[in-house]
Amino acid sequence: MTGPCPPIKTATSETIAEAARLIRAGRLVAFPTETVYGLSADATNGEAVAAIFAAKGRPEFNPLIIHLAGILDAEKLVQFDDRARAVAAAFWPGPLSLILPRTETCPVNLLAGAGLQTLAVRVPAHPTAQALVKAAATPIAAPSANRSGEVSPTSAAHVVASLGDAVDLIVDDGPCEIGLESTVLDLSQPEPMILRPGVISEDDLEPLVGKLATSEAQSAAPRSPGLLLRHYATRIPLRMMASAVAENEALLAFGPDPLKGARFTENLSSLGDIFEAASNLFAMMRILDRPDCAGIAVMPVPDNGIGRAINDRLQRAAHT
Ligand code: TXA
Ligand code: MG
Repeated sequence: MTGPCPPIKTATSETIAEAARLIRAGRLVAFPTETVYGLSADATNGEAVAAIFAAKGRPEFNPLIIHLAGILDAEKLVQFDDRARAVAAAFWPGPLSLILPRTETCPVNLLAGAGLQTLAVRVPAHPTAQALVKAAATPIAAPSANRSGEVSPTSAAHVVASLGDAVDLIVDDGPCEIGLESTVLDLSQPEPMILRPGVISEDDLEPLVGKLATSEAQSAAPRSPGLLLRHYATRIPLRMMASAVAENEALLAFGPDPLKGARFTENLSSLGDIFEAASNLFAMMRILDRPDCAGIAVMPVPDNGIGRAINDRLQRAAHT
């Protein structure tokens, strides 16, 4: 259940400073990143971390990504090797999370890492996110700011719809540019592996880390708990690769020739632009998730580059 509306404030240096104060005081703040909106708390404060899990209704075995201002801060939390340094140099700040072994003196609360010996770290590129992690001056745990299992929020309005007053402040800086969560790359083992596809692709990473191990993304007991087969769920059923649509269905179209006859239609990109499609995906899934429709039919989306990440999210939403 969502409660009354939490304060939404436009991102300015004042509201970012206020957000940083709230985080240091153990409160929850939603903020924009280049990927999706995050629900943040001080990662060194166990009660604040527990409040994230409570607000999301998230199973406590699912570990959180720790957001930092730069690689020097990340090196205090996790052990970098040459591969990790190479990808961090190439893609940070940016939409890439690295799974690495915790350092012995890592101050991040164990609950944030779900008790694992490894931790996910990322340096966000969005100027507001950058300003916030700098101002907070503490590692920030930030999962996507939605209730567990729902699609990730790409606007402040989505955060309100999903979390209501469970959050103390929402910093609003408009829609997220990428619209899909960061690529999660596991470098904690000899064989590097992508645990969650994102805009930074296998082709981007292999030259720097070597051959990637086959993804466990389709397995029922994945290395990454967030890779549960059913995730990013809509309330009505979703089917992919639609070549026709029924009159009681909603249509998620792609490209210049949307199928005809749906009750409602949203087009991920009428130009067939895969990046535009990624940034529209979660917002359009929310719009089409209507109880007066029998389901959502999704037209084929090309499975290359970020299209793979889009299809990954759609497959999880379609899984029954
Ligand atoms: O783009 C993003 O990454 C967004 C923004 C807010 O930064 N955050 C995000 O966080 O998507 P979340 O909590 O919704 O997803 C974190 C993912 C989950 O799939 C989780 O299981 C995985 O990262 N993860 C975190 N720590 C891990 C670890 N130590 N080992 C394996 N997987 C881990
Ligand atoms: Mg999430």
